Amino acid sequence: MKIAVLGTGMVGQAVATRLAELGHEVTMGSRDAANPKATDWAAGPGQRIAATFTDAAASAELVVNATAGVASLEALALAGADNLDGKVLLDIANPLDFSNGFPPSLSVVNTDSLGEQIQRDFPGAKVVKSLNTMNCEVMVDPARVGGGDHDVFVAGDDADAKAAVTQLLQGFGWAPEHIHDLGGIASARGTEMYLPLWLSLMGSLGSGNFNIKVVRG
Ligand SMILES: NC(=O)c1ccc[n+]([C@@H]2O[C@H](COP(=O)([O-])OP(=O)(O)OC[C@H]3O[C@@H](n4cnc5c(N)ncnc54)[C@H](OP(=O)(O)O)[C@@H]3O)[C@@H](O)[C@H]2O)c1
Repeated sequence: MKIAVLGTGMVGQAVATRLAELGHEVTMGSRDAANPKATDWAAGPGQRIAATFTDAAASAELVVNATAGVASLEALALAGADNLDGKVLLDIANPLDFSNGFPPSLSVVNTDSLGEQIQRDFPGAKVVKSLNTMNCEVMVDPARVGGGDHDVFVAGDDADAKAAVTQLLQGFGWAPEHIHDLGGIASARGTEMYLPLWLSLMGSLGSGNFNIKVVRG
């Protein structure tokens, strides 16, 4: 599949690399097609391309948002609403605002979420929030934590789009019983508001190599 990964940070690198390993044609999007983080990545093995946000989204069948949460609406505007129309948009971003230092605050909470803001601004896109509740290394290799016995969430308004993302997650190694459908895109609120706890756990555990496990009674 032709996939655009918008974002040149550690999440974009991890997800784009794994998708290329899985045989997808992956375009890493950036504000500048000559961004060395993207061009260096594109020199690696597999079908890899570096492009602007716009060109990456235009050529893709599925788009991944791995941009800074406070800038995601801006980045997706550069990608272009027309280039997102009718496409699955996997949103991994968290609305972390570091403008007052660490720990960051959330720029949108309680009655709204970044996932919903994206869905409202780009109504033609089929937004699915997922993978934002864990470190990027765990996203693409769940076996690195407890042999993969832990959980990932999907939230979105379009059932087919959630099925497409679920298939992608299974390609990363997520077992079907560990993929939880939380419902509509408004469920992104909960997964985004988990971030303060995630950050505290990272501090207390001294590592980002952990994840949520849902245990039923
Ligand atoms: N780090 C993790 O393990 C982790 C885990 C879960 C979720 N997340 C979320 O995943 C997302 C990506 O995180 P990251 O650490 O890989 O990267 P990041 O540093 O948060 O974001 C880098 C990307 O954001 C783009 N960007 C920054 N400011 C912009 C602006 N004003 N306009 C347009 N684009 C802009 C950059 O574009 P250029 O390429 O043009 O510079 C770059 O591609 C974030 O939302 C983060 O909260 C991260």
